[in-house]
Amino acid sequence: MEITITEHYDEMSKVSARLIAQEIHRKHDIVLGLATGDTPVGTYQELVRIHKEEGLDFSKVKSFNLDEYLGLAPVHKNSYNYFMWENLFKHVNINPENVYIPQGNIKDPEQFCVWYEEQIKKAGGIDLQVLGIGRDGHIGFNEPGSSFASRTRVKALFKQTIEDNARFFDKEEDVPRFAITMGVGTIMEAKKILLIANGKNKADVCAQFIEGPVTSQITATSLQLHNYANVILDNEAASKLKRIEYYNWVRDNKHLVQKEVGR
Ligand code: PGA
Repeated sequence: MEITITEHYDEMSKVSARLIAQEIHRKHDIVLGLATGDTPVGTYQELVRIHKEEGLDFSKVKSFNLDEYLGLAPVHKNSYNYFMWENLFKHVNINPENVYIPQGNIKDPEQFCVWYEEQIKKAGGIDLQVLGIGRDGHIGFNEPGSSFASRTRVKALFKQTIEDNARFFDKEEDVPRFAITMGVGTIMEAKKILLIANGKNKADVCAQFIEGPVTSQITATSLQLHNYANVILDNEAASKLKRIEYYNWVRDNKHLVQKEVGR
């Protein structure tokens, strides 16, 4: 895992958006895996800015969202479908036919999950998966105990997740109890991973998933087994890491690799 510690939320957002933009430049028909929540809002704003001011082209980009609340229609203001259109898609030139988001109000979720996995495969797999992290260590809605082999499926939400997400709803009882989510196995098949996290309330879980033992109780620890995972944190989320000095040294001295090779 490559750990980049930034000064604050804005810098985290700019650095992560730049990384995503570079990948889009490299492969115009890239397949992105996208996340929702407070964390990526700034990253999406920055991507919109790069699109408007630098002409970043989304016309051939395909995207698959990680998850969606079960029971919410795509037009519901708390649905992740609504979130994605409001925060990113309606501001860039993505082709709506290339946008895949689990459908929360689908009649047969089980069959839908199989179909979703097939679409990811048909697209050639996810090139870059963007992730946030929950305080319980979830990626997507892969709550504690989710198998590292899990695929897209319906998952019951953890109590802490329901409490955390209640801020988006009128009252806690309105938070759906289930979600459709890509599995840990689905996420791990992405060629590259970018996880972003900010804020003091993510400091404990960031220390656990980066420096703690691999366990399905903290599903983000699965990323320790991925061969290309980039983690971009703000100062607060990074504050409980033990090896900050090392991560910063690596970040600041990448150029030395070339020198070493030439010796
Ligand atoms: P947040 O959610 O970005 O709103 O903190 C992250 C997550 O639950 O994955």
